Amino acid sequence: MAASSCPASLGFVLVLLALAGASHGHPPVAGSALSSRFYDASCPRAYDIVQSVIQNARVTDPRIPASLIRLHFHDCFVNGCDGSLLLDDDLPAIQSEKNVPANENSARGFPVVDDIKRALEKACPGIVSCADILALAAEISVELAGGPRWRVLLGRRDGTTTNIESANNLPNFFDPLDVLQKKFRDVNLDDTDLVALQGAHTFGKVHCEFTRQNCTRGQAEGTLENLDQVTPKTFDNKYYDNILKGRAQLDSDQVMLSDPAAAATTAPIVHRFAANQKDFFRNFAVSMIKMGNISPLTGKDEAHDIVQRVIQNARVTDLHFHDCFVNGCDGSILLDDDLLVVQREKNVLVNENSVCGFTVVDDIKSALERACPSIVSSTDILALAAEISVKLAGGPSWRVLLGCCDRTMTNIESANNLPKTSSTPGTYLGRSSETSTLTTLTSSPSKNCTGGQAEDTLENLDQVTPKTFDNKYYDNLLQLRAKLDSDQVVLSDPNTATITAPICASVHG
Ligand code: HEM
Repeated sequence: MAASSCPASLGFVLVLLALAGASHGHPPVAGSALSSRFYDASCPRAYDIVQSVIQNARVTDPRIPASLIRLHFHDCFVNGCDGSLLLDDDLPAIQSEKNVPANENSARGFPVVDDIKRALEKACPGIVSCADILALAAEISVELAGGPRWRVLLGRRDGTTTNIESANNLPNFFDPLDVLQKKFRDVNLDDTDLVALQGAHTFGKVHCEFTRQNCTRGQAEGTLENLDQVTPKTFDNKYYDNILKGRAQLDSDQVMLSDPAAAATTAPIVHRFAANQKDFFRNFAVSMIKMGNISPLTGKDEAHDIVQRVIQNARVTDLHFHDCFVNGCDGSILLDDDLLVVQREKNVLVNENSVCGFTVVDDIKSALERACPSIVSSTDILALAAEISVKLAGGPSWRVLLGCCDRTMTNIESANNLPKTSSTPGTYLGRSSETSTLTTLTSSPSKNCTGGQAEDTLENLDQVTPKTFDNKYYDNLLQLRAKLDSDQVVLSDPNTATITAPICASVHG
């Protein structure tokens, strides 16, 4: 997928995921309200750009406005309007919502969303979120089809995680009325919202096998039919007329009139909207704004900024490594002695007088506690700090997966078994299990507080570009000038050289 496309562009937005105590898995940072003027200063042409891409796409694909509004609906109902529907598979971390039954071979328009993102990135790089693109595209689509206008509220940040369970629970055409009502109530939408929003079935298509006729007119499965058979391309109130005549395409449309419970709930609203298009338009706009307000991620990603600020000059990548290799990534390396209960991992041979950065981690923790007390775990601090450290040193950036809780126990036996400078590749491989992982992880230019001429003298691990995260380390290996045995053996050990040498050469090249 192109670098400017929505899912790929999420890389620069580091979001704290699934933090303990956060509702809907969203970060509890000070959220600001959405605003229709959010991009007035930073991307004043955003609306026009989105509109022009949709208008162009519509020339060859008249159905695209309907498809785009449906994307916003399927985004907002799963984890809130956070653009998560656009994320592609990146297993095991991300399982795409695009593949659940309600979306697969059904949700469409993704390439147009990518085109919009590309156009926006050209005009105002890194500004407009993918979640906001979906909200804007929904409004513009309705307007282009003759429906109402409304002020789209903007300012959502993109999430970096999907929710397959929730995507599998999207409202379904075979859901009875009470289930549909509950699914809407769960996201703060009432019966009027349900009736108004289903009014979007005034345009767009449906696969015949989902219809109430179930392709009975001799059609092959997969044949597309108009959702509104009277005015299929116009956004109007004829959809409600169809329901009154018993001719809605989906059971989930018709039940709003026919279900025994409808008479006291949804049926009067169907009658109202069928009789008065203005009433429908007014309510549709209000309900779209309500739907767009489902758990948006707003405000700054404060935790990330705080960690970055504190570690500007400190490198703590080796702390994350020494944490994860003992008992898993659980923050246990940070625990101090607590009489007989906890014996600290800081004192084992490979850590004592060697691993640095604990005071920086303390500083980060204090800063975070001030901003959002008892939220960010120490384990997650180490993971965030590792990524930020690499990035600050010129290395790659990646999406840090968060939400780990801290353990309250250490494991001294395992800490004593951490890979040592004299380790053979096998020691690492037992844990990381992949040679390429071993070869690339050992390139981390973390400080080693031992070695050198007089004991305690510090030397650069990479003597060519010691402060930069680059691939010169592999040059050193190829020139047999690695500082540590455990680096050099990656290339020189006869048992593994045939596997690792080509990796070193390719990473170097
Ligand atoms: C009560 C909940 C809803 C159910 C059960 C439902 C179900 C469906 C189904 C089964 C289809 C046809 C999919 C296919 O054949 O591939 C469809 C299409 C569509 N839905 Fe819904 N829907 C619901 C609510 C909404 C809402 C809230 C909106 C927008 C605000 C919406 C907008 C659309 C549009 C525009 C299409 C046509 C898309 C296209 O042509 O690409 N639906 N819906």
